[in-house]
Amino acid sequence: MNTVSDINALRAQVKEWHLKGLKVGFVPTMGNLHAGHISLVTEAKKHADKIVASIFVNPMQFGANEDIGSYPRTLTDDKEKLIAEGTDLLFTPTPEIIYPKGLDKQSFVDVPNVSEGYCGESRPGHFRGVATIVCKLFNLVQPDIACFGLKDYQQVQVIQAMVEDLSMPVEIIPVATCREESGLAMSSRNNYLTSEEKAIAPALHQSMQWLSDKIQTSTDFIGLAKQAASKIDEAGMKTDYIHICNARSLQPASEDDTDLVILAAAHCGKARLIDNLQVTLSK
Ligand code: PAF
Repeated sequence: MNTVSDINALRAQVKEWHLKGLKVGFVPTMGNLHAGHISLVTEAKKHADKIVASIFVNPMQFGANEDIGSYPRTLTDDKEKLIAEGTDLLFTPTPEIIYPKGLDKQSFVDVPNVSEGYCGESRPGHFRGVATIVCKLFNLVQPDIACFGLKDYQQVQVIQAMVEDLSMPVEIIPVATCREESGLAMSSRNNYLTSEEKAIAPALHQSMQWLSDKIQTSTDFIGLAKQAASKIDEAGMKTDYIHICNARSLQPASEDDTDLVILAAAHCGKARLIDNLQVTLSK
């Protein structure tokens, strides 16, 4: 696996592959890779001949109250994992390469509707940062396909909307969430959990499963979501939000919707955990 930070080197390699008629798959990450990230590479290999991964801790998607400095950086381990999975090229740009004018003079991409609410409300500016960096990385890498984890369900909807709205020639492939045996969704943020917190964190997923069962037979979406929030709080976490939404528009679910998603976020010690569960109602 070749590792490059330089944009010209990245473009030269991808151009060579495209000239040979090879399909290029892309897995953008912020590093600190776990099995969930590696499953994105595995999936990308099913759809493409050459795989590019990127590691860039994107300052634009962190809020003023979020400490980008303490985001875990584990490049040596990350490289080993990417090599073991057969990644062909790793792009590791610096913030100066990505945002040479500085963040406040940088153009940005705002995706309406699906960016609003839930994590968009709890983390103002977050999805602008995500859409802008993903747009920029797509322009740099020019992949044919790109894989994103469904653990960040709202992020996948934002990226899909951006690609559609701006006619980007990239196919987005959503990949199922990888979970610990306890049901806890894999996330770099789990590293912040103490062993006691790791024991209570699975209650987030369990409460969502409870909610998923309940909505099979009741349309009291708001009341049931409140009860699920109490379960999360009683387990020792602090619910940020838990909502039952239309799986496409992310609007609050109506009684006629059948394709739903439960979106939730909760604070567990220092970590803010997010999770989601897609639910199909048979009517
Ligand atoms: O999901 C992530 O790790 C990030 O939001 C992404 C898509 C790599 C953009 O920085």
